[in-house]
Amino acid sequence: MSENIIYCYSGSGHCLAMARRIAEVLGDTDIVMMRAFPAKTDATEAKRVGFVFSCMAGGLPGNVEDYVKAIKIAPGAYKFAVEQYAGYLGCGLHKLDELVGLDYWAGVANHSTAIWLMPHNLTLAPQSPAKCAEKIERKAVEIGGAVRAMKKSEKKPPKQAAFALMSAGLGKTHARRVKKFAASEACVGCGTCVKVCPRNNIQLQGGKPVFGPNCIGCLSCVQFCPKSAINIGKVTEKRERFPNGAVKPEDLTRKIIHID
Ligand SMILES: Cc1cc2nc3c(=O)[nH]c(=O)nc-3n(C[C@H](O)[C@H](O)[C@H](O)COP(=O)(O)O)c2cc1C
Ligand code: SF4
Ligand code: SF4
Repeated sequence: MSENIIYCYSGSGHCLAMARRIAEVLGDTDIVMMRAFPAKTDATEAKRVGFVFSCMAGGLPGNVEDYVKAIKIAPGAYKFAVEQYAGYLGCGLHKLDELVGLDYWAGVANHSTAIWLMPHNLTLAPQSPAKCAEKIERKAVEIGGAVRAMKKSEKKPPKQAAFALMSAGLGKTHARRVKKFAASEACVGCGTCVKVCPRNNIQLQGGKPVFGPNCIGCLSCVQFCPKSAINIGKVTEKRERFPNGAVKPEDLTRKIIHID
C-alpha cells in the first residue's frame, strides 16, 4: 500500500504530467487513472488522497463525479485537488470539495489544448508546448511541496454556479460532436486512436477509424493521432494539436502508475 494516492483524469496528457510530477515530489504514490472507472476505489490506507483533473465545459470531466462518489477515503486523510484549465476555473473544484471536503486546492491556467470550439479557444492564444511544460514543472513542484507539508487552503474553491449549467449539458454535447469525428486521407491505420480511447468507442474498419456514440470528449484520439488525421467537422482542420510531450499514448491507458 502506497502512502499517497492521486486520482487522475487526463485527455491530452497535461494532467497526467502534472500528477506524475507531484507524485515525484511526494514519493511513494499510486496514480490511479479516472478516464474509465478507477481500478482502485479503496483509498482508506492512504495518508494523502489527491485529485488531478482538467476543467471540461466549466465542470468536472468525463464521469469523474460518479467515480469520486465510489472512492472510500479514511476520515483523517489529507485531501487535495489540482485542476488545470484553459481560460476559466469553472465549478469542478467546488463540486469536488462538496464530494470529499478538500484540505488544499489549486487551479492552474494552462491554455494548451486549443482544439475544441470553446469560448476560450476563440479569445486566447494557445501556449507553446515548451511554455506548457515549464508551467507544469513549476506549479507541480510548488503544489507538491505544499501537499507534502499538508498545507491547508485558506478559502474554499469558488462556487461559480453559472458553470454548473454549462457542464450539466456536457454528455449531450459530446454525443452530438462525436457524430462529426472523421479521419482524413492522412490516416495510416496505425490503431493508436483505438488504443487510447478510454471508452472503446473507436473501431478500425477497412483500416480507418469508425466512431461510436460513447464519447466523453477527452480528445485523446484527436490529440495523439500521429498524423493529426482526426477532425471534428471542419473546426479542427486548421488547429494545431497539443498533446503533452512527456506523455505517451500508452501512459494514458495504464490503470495505475506507481511512483517511488
Ligand atoms: C472538451 C474540452 C472542454 C474543455 N472545457 C474547458 C472549459 O470549459 N474551460 C477551460 O478553461 N478549459 C477547458 N478545457 C481545456 C482543458 O481544461 C485544459 O486544456 C487542460 O489542461 C486539459 O488537460 P489534459 O491534457 O489532462 O486533458 C477543455 C478541454 C476539452 C478537451
Ligand atoms: S491514430 Fe490517426 S493514423 Fe492512426 S488509425 Fe487513428 S486516425 Fe488513423
Ligand atoms: S472517441 Fe476520442 S474523444 Fe471520444 S472518448 Fe474516445 S478517445 Fe475520447
